[in-house]
Amino acid sequence: MAIIETENLTKVYRTTRKDPGLRGSVKALFRPQIVDKLAVDRISFHVEPGEMVGYIGVNGAGKSTTIKMLTGILVPTSGQVRILGRDPHRQRVDNARQIGVVFGQRTQLWWDLALIESLNLIARIYEVDPARYKQLLDQFSETLELGELLRMPIRNMSLGQKMRAELAAALIHEPLVVYLDEPTIGLDLIVKERIREFIRQQNRDKGTTVILTTHDLGDIEELCQRVIIIDNGRLIYDGPITTIKARFGKYREITFETCQPVYQAIALPEGAHIVTNGYSPEDRKLVLRFDRTLTTASRVAHDVMDQVEVNDFSLTEPDLSSIVKQIYNGALLEETTS
Ligand SMILES: Nc1ncnc2c1ncn2[C@@H]1O[C@H](COP(=O)(O)OP(=O)(O)O)[C@@H](O)[C@H]1O
Ligand SMILES: [Mg+2]
Repeated sequence: MAIIETENLTKVYRTTRKDPGLRGSVKALFRPQIVDKLAVDRISFHVEPGEMVGYIGVNGAGKSTTIKMLTGILVPTSGQVRILGRDPHRQRVDNARQIGVVFGQRTQLWWDLALIESLNLIARIYEVDPARYKQLLDQFSETLELGELLRMPIRNMSLGQKMRAELAAALIHEPLVVYLDEPTIGLDLIVKERIREFIRQQNRDKGTTVILTTHDLGDIEELCQRVIIIDNGRLIYDGPITTIKARFGKYREITFETCQPVYQAIALPEGAHIVTNGYSPEDRKLVLRFDRTLTTASRVAHDVMDQVEVNDFSLTEPDLSSIVKQIYNGALLEETTS
């Protein structure tokens, strides 16, 4: 049985608009201008126990609104949502025991309490067995490197520390389903990697079902086999990440930082070309695009470094908004008809 089911899930936000200034305020008082925003538009999908699903879309696509309906924070305008067969809003207490939630942009912990005090409280509220609690605390402390954080109040933590604390707090009652809304936003690579490892471990060891929203394709590639792409509230793709990668990972970009300004032409392997608009030797940044089916990143890097002295180079992942655009242009049609 599916653990998460949505059927034509829809959310319309109703807001009132006001013209600027006092006149606008007075007018709005007597004749409010109502504006409806369709944030989530008839979305249907099922998630099986133990799956890790990437729920992705550009800013404003409707990701957080969906998560809020799945967790029971928001009531759908129409359509259905069932978590373990329950209505998450109407059966909020029962639902809460089974789920864990992290919102990347805001903290849910007690601001002035030390992390350990928050964790103790949460363990009490959820009636976590004391022996089990001790075990989990040790485990989490190790993977998330909580050590010195345990005694620290949340208010004193950096963004990366806070996020590790949030994850521990959201998972200490061992929920069956975890919703992570942009958990790695604004974090550096080392913290990101640590958080990904923790999520992977929970999923592998306990079969925790994970819904991960992000606009960072790197997170998804490392954790999820399945992705759901939404745009403007609509579901535009639900399927394996491998299809997305094969289709859209065709072109890659490499940015080279050269030691000296480059004035000469550079010979490149077939399938690679320079895309830097009006390369200015002074900024010493050279951007190349190549077709992965014709050549490889290491081949391109090798050829360039043979001809130019290079300080550093980096590979850019395909970006989400260009993928979304290509899906609208029919880039996935062949896949579904063949
Ligand atoms: N409380 C709200 N009232 C009105 N509009 C909202 C509210 N929350 C979100 N929206 C709008 O709904 C759309 C989807 O928002 P959201 O679900 O937060 O997107 P995402 O998480 O993908 O960035 C956006 O256009 C946003 O401006
Ligand atoms: Mg959001």
